[in-house]
Amino acid sequence: MRPLRLCLCASEVAPFAKTGGLADVVAGLTRWLGRRRPGGRGHDVRLFVPYYARVAGSGLPTQPLPGAADIDVPFPGRRIRFSIRTAPLPGSNVRVHFVDCPELYGGRDIYTHDGDEALRFGLLCRAVLETCQRLQWAPDVLHCNDWHTALLPIYQRHVYGWDKLFANTRSLLTIHNIGYPGFFAESQIHALGLGDQRAHVHQGDLREGRFSFLKTGVLHASRLSTVSRTYAQEIQTAEFGMGVDDLLRSRSQDLAGIVNGVDYGDWDPATDPLIPHHFRAGDLSGKARMKAALLLRLQVAPEPRAPVFGIVSRLAAQKGFELFADSIPALLQREDARLCVLGAGEDQHERYFQWLRDTWPDKVGLYRGFHDELAHWIEAGSDVFLMPSRFEPCGLNQMYSLRYGTPPVVRRTGGLADTVEPWDPHAGTGTGFLFDAFTSQALTGTIDWVLQNWRDQRSWQKLVQNGMARDFSWDRQGPEYEALYRSMLRA
Ligand code: ADP
Ligand code: GLC
Repeated sequence: MRPLRLCLCASEVAPFAKTGGLADVVAGLTRWLGRRRPGGRGHDVRLFVPYYARVAGSGLPTQPLPGAADIDVPFPGRRIRFSIRTAPLPGSNVRVHFVDCPELYGGRDIYTHDGDEALRFGLLCRAVLETCQRLQWAPDVLHCNDWHTALLPIYQRHVYGWDKLFANTRSLLTIHNIGYPGFFAESQIHALGLGDQRAHVHQGDLREGRFSFLKTGVLHASRLSTVSRTYAQEIQTAEFGMGVDDLLRSRSQDLAGIVNGVDYGDWDPATDPLIPHHFRAGDLSGKARMKAALLLRLQVAPEPRAPVFGIVSRLAAQKGFELFADSIPALLQREDARLCVLGAGEDQHERYFQWLRDTWPDKVGLYRGFHDELAHWIEAGSDVFLMPSRFEPCGLNQMYSLRYGTPPVVRRTGGLADTVEPWDPHAGTGTGFLFDAFTSQALTGTIDWVLQNWRDQRSWQKLVQNGMARDFSWDRQGPEYEALYRSMLRA
């Protein structure tokens, strides 16, 4: 079968620009798609992301892409100029195409609350199509991710539809998180150069004076996907669909659920360059050293027998930390347990974890902020990983923690339900601990059950081994995307 021409577009890619799992998934999938196949070439993959200030300022060597300099994109009343700079994605022969537009990305972070936020990502979409035109490169599939790139399909079909270059191009919108619909005031439709397309955006939203990037993508992409099978079902319900469920139900046949892959090149305790002590299933002595190192680093009292609960998370309502209010203080009060938290986000959660740290300084370690290396340390040095999400499209941390011998405690929702199997100590099967009700009683009960199991270290080791043996690599998950792309071309 011929290699495909795949054009990926996203707001984040690790290691250059990351706030969460989207960055890891975009990097991992791109790498896998571009890899040479036995006896053949890899797919022809190009990934477009903005050239944010943090990338420009990182000292990353980039090269101008010949034929893609100083391109003017006409928006009503103004022209916005961009150029493409490229650099290889580490560990891959795919080149990242950075959209260099100082006016929109210079001096600014990934996401902003500025008045031109819609334009920043509208330009990203149009820059992809404009660049394809300059290169005369006709992608088989435009693969968009989340709201930031969800206008690509409407631009392709209705603004650039005259160009025969895109006649056979299909589009896939992957929804990583429906909680971020990308709503803007209706007046932005005109500013984005979509004034003639008002009939093609969600009419109910228009009546409310607004429109959503994500919903527009759901309406116009050839196919839709999300990042786990369970979440694909959930988002078609009123409870999880966040107002997009009706649209998704109407496109049910076009919606696939593909569980994210893990890039074990970045996340494997046997080789992880960000941790000082390595380990593998056959020899966990390095994990014990990581536990001691982690507690020392976060200035928590050492005690090898006390279980360390780890958290690495965006501190957002999605992640379910409100359940901690009753369960965690009780745990810290009565048990000789440790809690190591890395997180940034909503103030109330940061303050809560700070309170825990201040109240139990010997037992609670905390880093408020984003810290890539510490994320790896917590995966490696903890005994149990906590992820009580209210909803979770897929979740990567629970899969990382399985590989790092750190059984996860998760709520049975979205990708957590698809990737963690309940531990049954009698049968010796399962990889973690699941609970259903979104209540602190349910979480407390599960933590008690964890502690009960922790006391039987022989059986605990079986649990650890089960998790470490699970394989969520892109070699398993990538072919599902490949099959989806090919089925889109046949359609
Ligand atoms: P989400 O994308 O919803 O945040 P995921 O579990 O899919 O959740 O992915 C989270 C990713 O972001 C993981 O790679 C995790 O290590 C990383 N991460 C989250 N918060 C932090 C933080 N404060 N510092 C470093 N890495 C973080
Ligand atoms: C989102 C989701 C998370 C998912 C990630 C990558 O941020 O919250 O569950 O793993 O995207 O797809």
